[in-house]
Amino acid sequence: MNYEKLMKRAIALADQYKYTAKPNPVVGCIILKDEKIVSEGAHEEYGSNHAEINAIEKAKKLQGKLFQSFQELTMVCTLEPCNHFGKTGPCSEAIISSGIKKIIIGAKDPNPMVSGKGIDNLIKNGVNVRYGICQELVKKQNRTFFFKNINKRPFITVKIASSIDGKSHLLDGLRTYITCEESRADVQNIRALNDAILTGGNTLINDNPKMNARVSFPVNQPKKYLLSSKTNFDFTSEFFKNSDYEIITETNIKKIIDSFKNTEINGILVEAGPKLVNAFLLANLVDEVIIYQSPNTLGKNGVDWFKEDNAIEKFGFKLESSYKIKSDTKNIYSKC
Ligand SMILES: NC(=O)c1ccc[n+]([C@@H]2O[C@H](COP(=O)([O-])OP(=O)(O)OC[C@H]3O[C@@H](n4cnc5c(N)ncnc54)[C@H](OP(=O)(O)O)[C@@H]3O)[C@@H](O)[C@H]2O)c1
Repeated sequence: MNYEKLMKRAIALADQYKYTAKPNPVVGCIILKDEKIVSEGAHEEYGSNHAEINAIEKAKKLQGKLFQSFQELTMVCTLEPCNHFGKTGPCSEAIISSGIKKIIIGAKDPNPMVSGKGIDNLIKNGVNVRYGICQELVKKQNRTFFFKNINKRPFITVKIASSIDGKSHLLDGLRTYITCEESRADVQNIRALNDAILTGGNTLINDNPKMNARVSFPVNQPKKYLLSSKTNFDFTSEFFKNSDYEIITETNIKKIIDSFKNTEINGILVEAGPKLVNAFLLANLVDEVIIYQSPNTLGKNGVDWFKEDNAIEKFGFKLESSYKIKSDTKNIYSKC
C-alpha cells in the first residue's frame, strides 16, 4: 500500500482549511478499505470536529455498503490523534470505539505534554499504529503550531515594504504607498495566515491602517496588537474596527513575546516602522523577514529601514526566495 501517496492526499485535504482551522493545526484524514477510499475528513473550522471524527462519521453512513465492519478499515491521518478533552472529545477514544484496527500517522503532536499519548492509548487498545510518514511535510504545513509548541513562543514574521534606496516612509510622516497594488494584495494573504498582527503607536497615528486580512475567502481574522504608551488614541480610527484588538503598554520586547506563551497565538506578523522592527531584530525575536521592494526611491526625505547595508544578513538571515510581483520584488529571508 502506498501510504506516502495517501498521506500527501490527506495533507492536501487539510490545506484547504488553513485560514479557518487556525490557531488549531490543519489535519486531514482518510479511511480505507483495502486500497479503496471509504471516507475523508478534515478539521475544517476552529472549535469544530477534528478530522478523524468527520471521517469516521462519513464512514458510518457507508457501513454495509462499502464495508461490513470497521475492523476491516485503515485510517491515514496527518497528525497524531488527540487524547484529551478540548473543545471536542478525545479522537483516540473515538477511533478505538469505532473498531478501526490500523492507523498510519504523519507526525506526532509537538506539544511535549501530550505528544505520544494518543499513540500510546491506541496501541494499548489493540490498534496497530505506524507513524512518521511524510512527517516533514506535516510539520511544514503546520509550521507555526510546531514552532510554538517546541519553542514556547509564537513564530514571528516581520513584513516590510521598502523603496530601492532602503527607505520605510517619508520624514514628514505622511502616508506613502511604496509598493504596487499587487504586492499589497499579497500582504492580505500573509495576514490571513497569521493569528496576530502587531504594530506600533506611530504607525497607527501616521497611517491609520486597517490591518485586517482583506481577502475573498473565509478567514479567522488575526487579532490586532498595538504596542504603545499613548492613551489618547482616536478609537474611531480603522485599526480599532473589524476584529479584536489589544493595546500593550509594555516596551520590553522579550517580555511582550513571553506573554504569548500560554495563548493560542502561534504566528505573529509584525507590521511596523523602523523603530519597532529594529527593536524586534535586536531582541533576536524574528524568525522570518519578508521584504517587498519597490523600484522607486524615496531619496533624502525618506527614513532608512536600517543603519547599515545588508542589515538583514548581519542579523543572521539568509535569502530563501525571491520573485517578482509586477514591478516589485518579494524577498523572503529566514534563519533556518
Ligand atoms: N514601509 C513599511 O512597510 C511600513 C510599515 C509600517 C509603518 N511604516 C511607517 O513607519 C512609520 C512609523 O515608524 P516607527 O518605527 O516610528 O513607529 P512604529 O511602527 O509605530 O513603532 C514604534 C512605536 O512602537 C512602540 N513601541 C513599544 N515598544 C517599543 C520598543 N521596544 N521599541 C520601539 N518602539 C516601541 C512605541 O509607540 P508609542 O510611541 O506610541 O509608545 C514606538 O513609538 C510610519 O510613518 C509608517 O508610515 C512603514
